[in-house]
Amino acid sequence: MPEGQSRNDTIEDRLVEDRTFPPPESFRAASLVSSPALYDEANQDWQGFWARQAADLLHWDQDWQTILEWDEPFAKWFVGGKLNVCHNAVDRHVLAGRGDKVAYHWEGEPGDTRTITYADLLADVQRFANVLKGLGVSKGDRVCLYMPMIPELPVAMLACARIGAPHSIVFGGFSPDSLIDRINDAACRVVITADGGYRRGQPLALKPNVDVAVGATPSVEHVVVVKRVNEPVTMVAGRDHWWSDLMAAADAECPCESMDSEDLLFLLYTSGTTAKPKGIMHTTGGYLTQVAFTHKYVFDLHPDTDVYWCAADIGWITGHSYIVYGPLTNGATSVIYEGTPDTPAQDRLWDIAERYGVTILYTAPTAIRTFMKWGAEHPASHDLSKLRLLGSVGEPINPEAWMWYHEHIGGGRCPIVDTWWQTETGAIMISPLPGATITKPGSATFPLPGIEIEVVNEEGQRVERGGGYLTITRPWPSMLRGIYGDPERYQDTYWSSYAGKYFAGDGCKLDDEGYLWLLGRVDDVMNVSGHRLSTAEVESALVDHPAVAEAAVVGAKDDLTGQAVMAFVITRGTHSASPELGAELRGHVATKLGAIARPKVVIFTDELPKTRSGKIMRRLLRDVAEGRDLGDTTTLADPNVVEEIKRRAAESPTED
Ligand code: PRX
Repeated sequence: MPEGQSRNDTIEDRLVEDRTFPPPESFRAASLVSSPALYDEANQDWQGFWARQAADLLHWDQDWQTILEWDEPFAKWFVGGKLNVCHNAVDRHVLAGRGDKVAYHWEGEPGDTRTITYADLLADVQRFANVLKGLGVSKGDRVCLYMPMIPELPVAMLACARIGAPHSIVFGGFSPDSLIDRINDAACRVVITADGGYRRGQPLALKPNVDVAVGATPSVEHVVVVKRVNEPVTMVAGRDHWWSDLMAAADAECPCESMDSEDLLFLLYTSGTTAKPKGIMHTTGGYLTQVAFTHKYVFDLHPDTDVYWCAADIGWITGHSYIVYGPLTNGATSVIYEGTPDTPAQDRLWDIAERYGVTILYTAPTAIRTFMKWGAEHPASHDLSKLRLLGSVGEPINPEAWMWYHEHIGGGRCPIVDTWWQTETGAIMISPLPGATITKPGSATFPLPGIEIEVVNEEGQRVERGGGYLTITRPWPSMLRGIYGDPERYQDTYWSSYAGKYFAGDGCKLDDEGYLWLLGRVDDVMNVSGHRLSTAEVESALVDHPAVAEAAVVGAKDDLTGQAVMAFVITRGTHSASPELGAELRGHVATKLGAIARPKVVIFTDELPKTRSGKIMRRLLRDVAEGRDLGDTTTLADPNVVEEIKRRAAESPTED
């Protein structure tokens, strides 16, 4: 155990990482924020700070009377204000003479491309808004979108926003059952889909899933289908319509509905692994304010020169906020890519980044670790010299993955913004400001201006140093407004652990300089001989070894120690699995974190079970480690992976 460490009832802090990266001088000099002034301004008057952002970044049809009404846990921001999200994202740029500016460079997986200007977007959105009206959709009606990453998806979202109909996007990888639950919970009247989309070089059908689903969703009156892959589909007369037919017949002009700041903009369901999915509610004025603010300052956006690429899926909150609403509100030029990163080859992303001259890239640690596994020769074969800033989101980023991203993608010159947030927070909460913050590999650094975070212990008392639980102590503009139809569950899930604080469900530690290090979900904490260890730290220690590409760690029941550390490891490059390597890795973890964290078993595998958004499903690994039958695997991206891991686990000797 490292010196000075003692047992405590929160999460132990073991990983020591002391490399620091100040913003490069050339970056700092040209950045939007190069000093702590913005933090000072927000500290003096946080509500006034958000009000200034709302006024600076957005067009309001009518001013608000009250910045914030807070009746814990229910917030209302910019009360009395009126605005339209689509007007802010599209119309006002065209009205200001920027209609020819490219909003999206879109690239399909087979290599087809489309360039969409703000004027193009406005034309399509108006027509599609009229299509929706023609199908009987009016303000307040919910619309379900179940689509691939094609330009019609942002068009449909913006058309919904234009007429005040909240959208509920269901990620295209979800099954008919998931679709049924989500459509019924929101009682959607219309579903917008496609015949299919491309994935790994193959058309992946979507419409047949909708056909199954709508048999069990009485609220659905119409289905609109985009033709993308030209696969045969069944169209039910009167119910199903081709997108192109409806668009051709629609009027070209549709005014924006002036919406109340607190009107619902969208629902997005988070797939709980056990319980029924929660319909997270996001509203209009506060959401757009914080999304626009964070997109501008965290990514240091210079809209006239930057080409920005968030390589997430629009079906997740990252895509809602940082492919659609944030970038468009700020008048950015973005890249959207439909498919997978290894089609046709493992350099696809770098080929795209080079061709479009991408300057800002935002992706996830799971993707970065996959790129590490594939090898640095793929990015090295492309000119990535236009890149100037990199971002990470979705999971704790291991220091080694951070360093690899920095060196092999960022050429050693690009700051990295590790951004912590959630579907529920709507927008980034913890992140460096790239021109002002000295970063440390693996730390999301500090709360953004206007945001207040507290790390607390089991009793809810503030922790000044070391591990604990991440809480948010005051309302923020893009916070969820609740769970659709279930205010009690909202209160219970997020506001009942610690009085007066939002509990995010994540472990977090504070270092001596007040940097925040996210430790993953608290459900993922292990208890070994009374020590609460974070899986994220053991995983980082494993990935620190040159032979390891990716690692997932779980605590499995153990008669002697309560739980034992079990490690699932994917080797990197030419390194291959062997009992000797297993022993070496166990020793490596013990050296880095102390003997208590030494894995009892190292199981080598080729893949890890992940959700469709790329998060490791530790629950399933725990089932494997404890020899149980597998629980619910419906949210797993590839169910075959677990069978293979079970086989490997059965072959791995316990190394005590
Ligand atoms: O555990 C945290 C992790 O992802 C969770 C939120 O997941 P989701 O709602 O799907 O949203 C993902 C995109 C915002 C968080 O509770 N997480 C997200 N970003 C980070 C992170 N963990 C560590 N570091 C991050 N930067």
